[in-house]
Amino acid sequence: MTEFFSTITGVPRCAPIPVGPERLRLPLLPLEDAAAVARHGAEELLAAVGADPAWPLGLATGRTMEPLYAELVRLVRALPRREQQGLRQRWLSFNLDEYVGAPGPSRCEQAQSFRAFMAAQLMEPLQLTADQVCLPHGLALDPQVEAERYGAAVAAAGGIGLQLLGLGLNGHVGFNEPPCGPEAACRVVNLSASTRRQNAAAFGGDPAATPAQAITLGLAEILAARRILLVVTGASKAAVLARLLRDPPSAALPASWLQGHPAVTVVADRAALSAVILP
Ligand code: GLP
Repeated sequence: MTEFFSTITGVPRCAPIPVGPERLRLPLLPLEDAAAVARHGAEELLAAVGADPAWPLGLATGRTMEPLYAELVRLVRALPRREQQGLRQRWLSFNLDEYVGAPGPSRCEQAQSFRAFMAAQLMEPLQLTADQVCLPHGLALDPQVEAERYGAAVAAAGGIGLQLLGLGLNGHVGFNEPPCGPEAACRVVNLSASTRRQNAAAFGGDPAATPAQAITLGLAEILAARRILLVVTGASKAAVLARLLRDPPSAALPASWLQGHPAVTVVADRAALSAVILP
């Protein structure tokens, strides 16, 4: 990968922490805390925008991504002006998913859509345009037609280069809820009770107010990415991350299909790894 941005090394600045002697099923970069994970993720994203060829980025939402995007904004603002302009010209990203029915950023009194999240976290701070930061349209009249359009748009752009992923408490990636096989493509999905509980904070803490459906890229598009970075932080993810690192692939744990990808890394902090790190 050629370096476009002069100030980025691509090398993690924090030393990995020691992990237990067992054989893990996914390549793991264990880092001390969420700040170190955010720094590593932001550096990888920046290097991917500058890579030649620059494939579209695959982006995720969720609380895990907030410090990572904040760090990316900080890194970009520290670049010389000419390099910032170069980044803006090169940027093209596709988000994984969007709620069906959640209002967009223009209705700022109800800004819970992933489109609103991306506008606040990246689009506005980096001065990117709406056609550079792509998401499915959650208010489309026919969500299934929109899912097909979105999947086709990703394919037409050449597929994803670096795919950033978070991990759901039930093992979902994007909104690929269990059970889910590796062949699932972009589609409309029903959200599980556990996911609606997990994401209720953005909807006044009420799972019933959280949308019941979403449009998500499938495992098919995710696994077609050239490189995948799964980002996991916090003690709440320790149990599901331990399953992912130890158990064979199965539809019960959609993220486990990543084990078949040739260029995937799990980057996780000590808290998320508390079930697998050395005492
Ligand atoms: C959400 C999103 C995922 C996200 C995951 C983790 O439901 N659909 O793309 O990565 O769940 O969210 P969080 O980072 O808030 O734990």
